[in-house]
Amino acid sequence: MEGVAFITGGASGIGAATAQAFISKGVKSLVLVDINQDNLDTFSQKLINDQEEGVKIDLLTLQCDVTDEIAIKEVIKKAVEKFGRIDYAVNSAGITNKSKVGEYKTEDWNRVINVNQNGVFYCMREELAQMEKQNYLTCKSKDKCRAQRGSIVNVCSINSFVAAKRNAAYVTSKHAIVGLTKTCALDYAEQGIRCNGIAPGYIETPITLSPQNIEVLKKSTQPEKTPQGRPGIPEEIADVIVFLCSEGASYVNGAIWEVDGGFLTL
Ligand SMILES: NC(=O)c1ccc[n+]([C@@H]2O[C@H](COP(=O)([O-])OP(=O)(O)OC[C@H]3O[C@@H](n4cnc5c(N)ncnc54)[C@H](O)[C@@H]3O)[C@@H](O)[C@H]2O)c1
Repeated sequence: MEGVAFITGGASGIGAATAQAFISKGVKSLVLVDINQDNLDTFSQKLINDQEEGVKIDLLTLQCDVTDEIAIKEVIKKAVEKFGRIDYAVNSAGITNKSKVGEYKTEDWNRVINVNQNGVFYCMREELAQMEKQNYLTCKSKDKCRAQRGSIVNVCSINSFVAAKRNAAYVTSKHAIVGLTKTCALDYAEQGIRCNGIAPGYIETPITLSPQNIEVLKKSTQPEKTPQGRPGIPEEIADVIVFLCSEGASYVNGAIWEVDGGFLTL
């Protein structure tokens, strides 16, 4: 796979696994954006150490809070200065903050909405502005109708479709980005830009393995809740994200793919 990948929340969990999945498919130019500088440093060092002999990856790591729209503009500018284009944009940065609806502090509510909803919008706006400007990426298929100018995947959730107790800000933000994703698919289809979402179930990442969430992870991945009877691993989400970005998914647009061990079938 050729092209440049841009990943927010790229220093941990699903975002980090997505970077590794892109590399395993041959992508050599990657931009990793995260609020956490230490994790960016550690993870980029790991990617460099893990490089296969003879394969040279080019990484740009940028510390940025996705709620800062001016900083996001700057990040995209730096990415394009370095790599000339953005082919695959994966918006994975996200947080959760639990409370009953009537007990949310305004600042806690606003922070989740700002990161998970507005942050995705700010990133998409700049990603799209760049994608619209660039030429189509060279098409590998004999069927040239499959060529694309760019592809975006937003990391949604099973909570884009169903509620979760004491988690209204998260559930609200994840429902919202379904609307954003689908509308984007409509707005940009004619420009050769696709936009899809992925809805992970319960995945083992620092969010779900944290002391306040681990019991929910265990309970929610019992077979009566998740038919496969186990949590997913970030790589199982990352592989699908990379496929959705790729030319292989050239006719998938405005879709939100559930990757949840069967959770939403019950
Ligand atoms: N883990 C799951 O079970 C699960 C399930 C469904 C959806 N998701 C979604 O997957 C995405 C990734 O989550 P994860 O589980 O990999 O968690 P994670 O905590 O491992 O990764 C999230 C990353 O986002 C970064 N981040 C947080 N706020 C940011 C901000 N304001 N600006 C820039 N970066 C920021 C964090 O530093 C972290 O590196 C999130 O959107 C989450 O809602 C996760």
